Amino acid sequence: MNHSFLMKMPIQSPRTYPISVGAKIDDVNAWLPTTGFNQIVIITDNTVKKRYGLDLQSCLKTAGHHCLLFSFPAGEKHKNNKTKQTIENAMLLARCGRDTLILALGGGVVGDLAGFIAATYLRGVPYIQIPTTLLAMVDSSVGGKTGLNTDYGKNLIGAIYQPIAVVADVTLLKSLPKKQIINGLIEALKLFFTCDAKGFYDAHLHLPQLINGDETLLIEMVSRAVKIKAGVVERDEKEQGERSVLNFGHTIGHALEKCSDYTLLHGYAVASGILVEANISSILGILTRESLLKIQYVMSQLGINGKALKKYDLTHLIEATKNDKKACSGNVRYVLLKDIGSVHITNGNYIHAVTDNIVRQAIKNTIEANL
Ligand code: GLY
Repeated sequence: MNHSFLMKMPIQSPRTYPISVGAKIDDVNAWLPTTGFNQIVIITDNTVKKRYGLDLQSCLKTAGHHCLLFSFPAGEKHKNNKTKQTIENAMLLARCGRDTLILALGGGVVGDLAGFIAATYLRGVPYIQIPTTLLAMVDSSVGGKTGLNTDYGKNLIGAIYQPIAVVADVTLLKSLPKKQIINGLIEALKLFFTCDAKGFYDAHLHLPQLINGDETLLIEMVSRAVKIKAGVVERDEKEQGERSVLNFGHTIGHALEKCSDYTLLHGYAVASGILVEANISSILGILTRESLLKIQYVMSQLGINGKALKKYDLTHLIEATKNDKKACSGNVRYVLLKDIGSVHITNGNYIHAVTDNIVRQAIKNTIEANL
């Protein structure tokens, strides 16, 4: 006999979490919750461990907390299941229980991996994102995307699991090389290209100061970017519509990262992706040539142009787009720009199937653009 019935799940109450831009990480009493945990685990990479991790661990110990630190080799290549298992095993060996609070201290790789460990460790423990790169501050630390890479592509395994807080200490950016600042500026520009024309023009106006690490301007830009991103995530946490706009430039960007064996920085891969995907939008008559030229010009100010694409085999690159998470029934789908500050939406759809031939043409146009 078949007994079927409907199980009613409690509707989760909306949860809020603080995002503090401009907080100081060593001022632990200002951002650490006072209850809800007995054990802290800092997860970081070996570079950030030396730069900030050990100091943060001693601040927390001085403040009376049990605090362990686990680190792994830096780099996207290590954002994989092997690293996840190694850290989980170390935590299990140390008998970290459900009363553990994880601190994800680092850039996007650390945030994604530590967040995914938090999502699955003992079926979920709380975590705080403490981004140490501009890219992580403006994008990956907010919105709860966690995960890892597999042999098939980037971020293919993961969960949407929100942190309980984000602490963005902009003074940490001082130690970053310019290349890392540009890497983050690209993600902020992506957000402005898709959702915020004024943000784009402000950033454009102050690009040299931002690249040189002007703290006040960086705090303003990070706050603006994070507010916009938070709004998108609040409206569409599970990426069933609007949240896909944050993926502009990422279909090609992720394929490039894969083709470069993850040696290419994420922001730089996305920058090439933005150029190609803006070009697709222009070929399809959605974006004006004038707007395309503006985008190309701003990217050129960051030292980015289509020439970087020359070294990739076109067929391999297009093949690598097929594993994109937005693909559906074998069709690779793209976020297309309508104008600077807005995306193309048809019948409520934010992502659009584009043929390989058009993608191929857009890559060729991008390589040949005279910048
Ligand atoms: N980084 C894109 C997103 O959070 O949706």
